[in-house]
Amino acid sequence: MSVNVVILAAGQGKRMQSALPKVLHPLAGVPLLAHVIRTARALKPARICIVYGHGGEQVPNAMRAPDLQFVKQEPQLGTGHAVKQALPHLDAGSDTLVLYGDVPLIAQTTLHTLCDGKGERLRILTAELVEPGGYGRIVRNTKRAITAIVEEKDATQKQRRICEINTGIMSLPGKRLAGWLDRLSDKNAQREYYLTDVVALAVKDRVKIESCAPQNESEILGVNSMSQLAGLTRIYRLQIANRLLDAGVALADPLRIDVRGDLRCGHDVRIDVNCVFEGDVELGDNSVVGANCIIRNAKIAAGTRIEPFTLIDDAAIGKNCRIGPYARIRPGSKLAEDVHIGNFVEVKASEIGAGSKANHLAYVGDTTIGRNVNVGAGTITCNYDGVNKHRTVIEDNVLIGSDVQLVAPVTVHAGATIGAGATITKDVPPGVLALTEKKQVVKLDWQRPVKKALKP
Ligand code: UD1
Ligand code: CA
Repeated sequence: MSVNVVILAAGQGKRMQSALPKVLHPLAGVPLLAHVIRTARALKPARICIVYGHGGEQVPNAMRAPDLQFVKQEPQLGTGHAVKQALPHLDAGSDTLVLYGDVPLIAQTTLHTLCDGKGERLRILTAELVEPGGYGRIVRNTKRAITAIVEEKDATQKQRRICEINTGIMSLPGKRLAGWLDRLSDKNAQREYYLTDVVALAVKDRVKIESCAPQNESEILGVNSMSQLAGLTRIYRLQIANRLLDAGVALADPLRIDVRGDLRCGHDVRIDVNCVFEGDVELGDNSVVGANCIIRNAKIAAGTRIEPFTLIDDAAIGKNCRIGPYARIRPGSKLAEDVHIGNFVEVKASEIGAGSKANHLAYVGDTTIGRNVNVGAGTITCNYDGVNKHRTVIEDNVLIGSDVQLVAPVTVHAGATIGAGATITKDVPPGVLALTEKKQVVKLDWQRPVKKALKP
């Protein structure tokens, strides 16, 4: 769309009680401003310009991208003054859409409607609220034409009873914008240059003024406090859950899933309660995620079951695996198909071949495991010598008994068997049995100590 987008984000957000600029506070894991930028980008605008101010360079530093222009507004003299700072970066031939960095749920479809159509006009996104307190009110004449927006602080008693409010989001005609911004004055209750005063200027200049409404009331909600942020997060979470349900994902409870990023699901996916998905997560066809799992930047292939209380971070899990309960798969892990990782097993930066199992209490770090390997309970790879990390290689069809230490760097060749309790420090040849002999000793005359009687 040939439109400029200006995102206002210079305000302080005092009520957040935080050193972090308001627009950088995360909503479902992503900064408020990033939600607005994402929606703006979807419009394919000519320019996106972000007006920042409070919090120094934190906003541009956090959000920098080649398609974004950042302009500093200092001091902050009002919304009209803010848009004026952006002017040098805008394409004068295009209309300008003003968005707020702290109104994150504004929808693309609503903005399309607002910007759509030909001809020179000023279009304002308005809403009817039961409690309009605090907002600028839309003043209309007897023919229902908009004649002004009055801020609450400048409004008369009668105007304060108007329930139609200015959401702050508007589309301004390109050829008029610079002239109108020049004509704004700060003679009002807040000594600010109000962007809303362009309405009176449009009336004077006989530019058509139109209004449109958001599809959904949550779209226009702003964040001024932590409690409002929590409220919006809840709405957003439910929106995502409903989208997943619509796509056929079986959620045990749409109120108890938390998606903080992008979750893509195949068909017939089932997700139990209290799961958190962060970053980019893909769940393949017929996969199942049990209750209380956290999955971050991971790809789970078709038919795999993630059992309850499992944490997966930056890993790829193959088809038909069974992971957990209580498993931890750490970054850099790649599991082939039919792998079983059971309770209290930690896997880090390791590749595990098809059909291999580590079902109980093990640590597999910096390891390459072949196919059909069985890792016994209590087995660990000793990958760290106190200074450097070393790799362990366990080839196909190896059977490792319980409570084995594999001191890396070490290779266990194909088909070897390691006896329980062994400490393996040297490479094991293929097909052999490797043991660390420990003799069992029996003491026949031994007496278990008894508790001394307390003195009376
Ligand atoms: C503004 C509107 C009001 C509308 C309301 C909706 C004006 C004069 N008033 O009021 O009609 O009902 O929003 O929430 O426009 N900002 C800057 N620089 C500034 C001032 C503000 O970047 O100098 C940014 C803020 O960070 C915020 C947005 O503009 O994102 C709105 O500012 P805010 O102070 O919340 O405006 P209101 O007075 O609430
Ligand atoms: Ca506000």
